[in-house]
Amino acid sequence: MTYVSIRPERHSYELIKESGEFVINLVTKDLTYACDFCGVRSGRDVDKFTEMHLTAKKGEKVDCPIILESPVNIECKVKEIVPLGSHHMFLAEVVSVSVSEKYFDKTGKFHLNRSKPICYSHGGYFTLGEQVGSFGYSVRKKDTPKTGTKQRKRRSGKNSGRNNKRERMNF
Ligand SMILES: Cc1cc2nc3c(=O)[nH]c(=O)nc-3n(C[C@H](O)[C@H](O)[C@H](O)COP(=O)(O)O)c2cc1C
Repeated sequence: MTYVSIRPERHSYELIKESGEFVINLVTKDLTYACDFCGVRSGRDVDKFTEMHLTAKKGEKVDCPIILESPVNIECKVKEIVPLGSHHMFLAEVVSVSVSEKYFDKTGKFHLNRSKPICYSHGGYFTLGEQVGSFGYSVRKKDTPKTGTKQRKRRSGKNSGRNNKRERMNF
């Protein structure tokens, strides 16, 4: 299961509400410009695929298109729409996931990092930085990677609560 939250005034809102389907396309460094454009222009006014030279392909299990340039396409069917004020939350079942072959190694392991995924933080787009841990490293007894040790010491240190004052943000 997954969800997206969309303002009712968006063009996408009506499309997804009527069809009951959508696709989440993960964004890479190379796709950042297109992502921003698609995030500030409405499909009511422009064809975003044409403008950004993106390739549309019909999904495996949904009728709406996936973006072929994206390394991971997550096809979703809406199960419930929850009105939450400014945005309505579309709770959805993941019905198919397509993954670009070029990020698999010879052993069949998928390396999403090699696609240079980006994240959005407070108005900026960022590539990922250094790896700072791995799943379960905090409780692993043997072979604890060095990346975890410093952070753990700092957290449990005597002054770990210092500089921890909070500012209230208006949004
Ligand atoms: C990085 C980014 C994230 C966004 N996230 C959301 C979101 O979660 N929900 C939403 O309703 N709009 C979001 N927006 C705004 C819409 O993408 C924007 O209004 C867009 O023009 C809607 O296109 P449409 O009218 O074709 O649906 C986001 C925009 C950007 C740039």
